[in-house]
Amino acid sequence: MENKDLHFDTLAIHAAEKTDQNQALNPPIYMTSTFTFTDLQQADDTFSFKRKAFVYTRGGNPTINLFEARMAALESGVDSVAFASGMAAITSVLLSFVKNGDEILAHRNLYGSTFGATAHLFPNYGIITRYVNMSDLKQVEKSITPKTKVLYLETPTNPSLEIIDIAELSKIARNYGIKVVVDNTFATPYFQKPLELGADVVVHSATKYISGHGDVVAGVAISKDQEYIHRLKFGYMCELGGVLSPFNAWLLLRGLKTLSLRMKRHEENAMAIVRYLKNHPLVEKIMYPGLEEHPGHELARKQMTGFGGIVSFELKGDVETAKAFVRNLKLIKLAVSLGDAETLVEVPALMTHRDYPEEKLHEFGFSRKTVRISTGLEHPDDLIEDIERALKGVE
Ligand SMILES: Cc1ncc(COP(=O)(O)O)c(C=O)c1O
Repeated sequence: MENKDLHFDTLAIHAAEKTDQNQALNPPIYMTSTFTFTDLQQADDTFSFKRKAFVYTRGGNPTINLFEARMAALESGVDSVAFASGMAAITSVLLSFVKNGDEILAHRNLYGSTFGATAHLFPNYGIITRYVNMSDLKQVEKSITPKTKVLYLETPTNPSLEIIDIAELSKIARNYGIKVVVDNTFATPYFQKPLELGADVVVHSATKYISGHGDVVAGVAISKDQEYIHRLKFGYMCELGGVLSPFNAWLLLRGLKTLSLRMKRHEENAMAIVRYLKNHPLVEKIMYPGLEEHPGHELARKQMTGFGGIVSFELKGDVETAKAFVRNLKLIKLAVSLGDAETLVEVPALMTHRDYPEEKLHEFGFSRKTVRISTGLEHPDDLIEDIERALKGVE
């Protein structure tokens, strides 16, 4: 059947499947670095593109290719490139659009290492990134210069859960011949499809919801442009070397089968936690796009089909109160990363987002006392009991 005839849940299990020679239900893991030739003639035919075959896993591997094809189907792309990590995907995609002297225009609130790479590493190679508030479309347009080659954003953002208008930004970018890259890690294609809204490339930390089990570090970049995917794979992934392991590709394929079920449950748990926090006297601020009073709520309803599983919030008091709350949790684990079956908590300013200058945090929509929870798949009552106990300890 054609992909267009199948629902998301079915595509996550079946897209691009092939009948195995032994009729195994699950795809084999081609755990090999290289592929053999019967003789030099066959090698010559392969290298001169007369014969289509796998050569070396950094350039292609059947298990990795299946993961790439399945991700493309889920994100409404034509193809994708898998990477060893989300950061390998992000840096390779950005570098594929800029050269010495060019500029990247990015939303002001980014994952810490994306900010770190663009603010500290890229300038060494003459690539400058300017950070603007992309909720303000006029400011975006005013900030574009002839040197701007790419707009880069996350939506919802990490950790302040801001919502940026992908369709409107893409229209602006098209008028100036600029590419739009969206980090879709928080929403996943289950809740948001940036390519359908006009973005050129979608990137993921597949480490998160795509894997869903906290046992893989991986990334992927998806596009509707086959020529671009070829250039990204052979000109960047292959040359910079951030190749995904075939074993990790297999784990990601396994994770994808339950993506829709997991995302529904993550969201239900997030909603339950938000409802509880909303009525708690110690809670000062909640950042969750599912809340009607969230500034991005209406836009989230328009461009997403769900609000996701991440909740950020602030307690009355200062960073010491946040530290005490985190210390008092028992079931919820203190850890970076997100999208796992286990509910995880972190304090971004002290952990994942340390790269941001402290005096600028408020511009990025969070503060030293912001707490981020990635809701897992546990029973919501147990999570709320843990939060309740931790808050009592703070009082
Ligand atoms: C939104 C977002 N993008 C990118 C990354 C980087 O991905 P990875 O850790 O797989 O390199 C992360 C990691 O937390 C993230 O949260």
